[in-house]
Amino acid sequence: MTHRTTPWLASLINAGALVFFSLMLVAGLAACEPTTPVSEAPPVEEPPPALSDFDAQVDAVLAQMTLAEKVGQMTQADLSGLEDPTDVATLFLGSVLSGGGSDPAAGNSLEAWTNQYDTLQTQALQTRLGIPILYGVDAVHGHNNVLGAVVFPHNIGLGATRNADLVEEIARITALEVRATGINWTFAPCVTVPRDVRWGRTYEGFAEDPGLVAELGAAAVRGYQNGGLDNPLGVLANAKHYLGDGGTAYGTGNFPNAPLDQGDTQVDEATLRSVHLSPYLPSLEAGVGTIMPSYSSWNGEKVSGSKYLLTDVLKDELGFEGFLVSDWNAIDQVYPDDYKTAIERSINAGMDMGMVTNQYRAFIENLTALVEEGRVPMERIDDAVRRILRVKFAMGLMDSTRSHLADRSLQASFGSAEHRAVARDAVRQSLVLLKNEANTLPLSKTAARIHVGGKSADNIGNMAGGWTIQWQGESGEVTPGGTTILQAIRNAVSANTEVTMSEDGSGAAGADVGVLVIGETPYAEGFGDIREDTQMALAEEDVAAFNAMKAAGIPVVVVLVSGRPLIINDVLEQADAFVAAWLPGTEGDGVADVLFGDYGPTGKLSFTWPRSVDQLPFDYDAEDFDPLFEYNYGLTY
Ligand code: GLC
Repeated sequence: MTHRTTPWLASLINAGALVFFSLMLVAGLAACEPTTPVSEAPPVEEPPPALSDFDAQVDAVLAQMTLAEKVGQMTQADLSGLEDPTDVATLFLGSVLSGGGSDPAAGNSLEAWTNQYDTLQTQALQTRLGIPILYGVDAVHGHNNVLGAVVFPHNIGLGATRNADLVEEIARITALEVRATGINWTFAPCVTVPRDVRWGRTYEGFAEDPGLVAELGAAAVRGYQNGGLDNPLGVLANAKHYLGDGGTAYGTGNFPNAPLDQGDTQVDEATLRSVHLSPYLPSLEAGVGTIMPSYSSWNGEKVSGSKYLLTDVLKDELGFEGFLVSDWNAIDQVYPDDYKTAIERSINAGMDMGMVTNQYRAFIENLTALVEEGRVPMERIDDAVRRILRVKFAMGLMDSTRSHLADRSLQASFGSAEHRAVARDAVRQSLVLLKNEANTLPLSKTAARIHVGGKSADNIGNMAGGWTIQWQGESGEVTPGGTTILQAIRNAVSANTEVTMSEDGSGAAGADVGVLVIGETPYAEGFGDIREDTQMALAEEDVAAFNAMKAAGIPVVVVLVSGRPLIINDVLEQADAFVAAWLPGTEGDGVADVLFGDYGPTGKLSFTWPRSVDQLPFDYDAEDFDPLFEYNYGLTY
């Protein structure tokens, strides 16, 4: 089965064809639709206004703005690089972000984050025009920067649920927890289509299949923006990383130890459109307000400097009316020899806001000079600022009758049991059962003794993976409020059942069954790229723990906590049952629900599972295409 959309869709993607077929479809439907008397017709929900509907109001503000105020709006500083909160006001900054680990100086707590947001927003509101900032974070699986937030399964697990309504609900809850800190923008959903699971960002992708990515990405946009950009309970969404970030060729990575990340996607335009562009269309349709161009290249050209991809395709052909925010210092890579030229090329290509982190002063000085020298036309500056202000008007940020400080009433539901219950359900639905010999699963809650082992059995940090509190995540008790898999097993069994534990799998003899939780430790981006084939195999400590538990002569259930399929052949063959749990986040009870049969597994693989590293990247159409498990595989009971 191929997971590509055939090239003919690539031509259909052309907006002109889409309009034609849409009109045909509407005409067809109208012809066969039973006519409902108007009085009984259900209330028609008004679609949210188009961003360009705000242009009259935007242009009235634009006409008052100085060049300094315009360039300021196009500048996004990182909190950790902000020399002084007053820079937000004195430099008229349009946005601030907190990259992974960029916590408030006052520490990592709900209160500290909320106070930090209010401090910076207050600065912005004191400027001559009082244009509020957009504050952005990578809330990619919950408000994962903030201690105590609910951490949901990463996208690879959500892809296995095939449940768009669940993805929308998770995004809606995430938006509530983000807004509880005042923050109003998340750099999500990631609508990447990872085509080589050796990429360190595979787990940020929903699937290898563009169609599933398209469906779940749009669901996430609807959830984050919660019915429209003007909803103070929603946040501005950001589809990323445009375009082809998941299709780079092995060995073209931007850094020596990262063979894939930020590399070069070497495909023809039809493939670029059908595999990597098609997932953006439903997100555009859902009204996503911002898009983040990728660090990566297409056939040797940095996407963040490509006028064809940023302006001709995205803005002109597809009619995107929001704004483009660069990735973290990604503009630098457009022309590494000279920052001013890099800025010139990226802004003229269509980049609207620079995520320039700690070099915001240099960005402002260079872009101002480029305009004064005529190397960046004022029309381009005005177009970028118009797009940014459109979004701010649509979000109600330009309405001076509304408060733009944090709504602290939302803190009551931050990390709540209700939110955790949704995360637990997502964990249940994300697990994929790969093997179940002699009905080893479901386990009995009244067994005399269950022995639990493995490095990830009692480890929230491993369950959550990267982008959790720290950019790279970290093993251990990374954030409070969650439930490890060991704790979940203990929660599930009867009072008479003994649950013993050893990370190395020792001491299992005599137990009724063993549960071994193994896999990967946290990583993010290029740090997770597979550099050596051996890294795709199970870690030696995991194999040793499995052998120790197996030697006890008891049935062994393996639970794999990983950001991608790994090479598992030997252990799989000897295991009695094997469950792929991906990166489930903080709610380990969802794993126990499946292990004990309170929920029969329904998850289906959203990535083809390799038999060996030599098969990667998969050629889905090859005659000898012979993976260990195909896309959509998943047992139940
Ligand atoms: C990172 C990532 C991007 C993220 C941004 C801000 O490098 O590539 O996904 O949104 O920087 O943290």
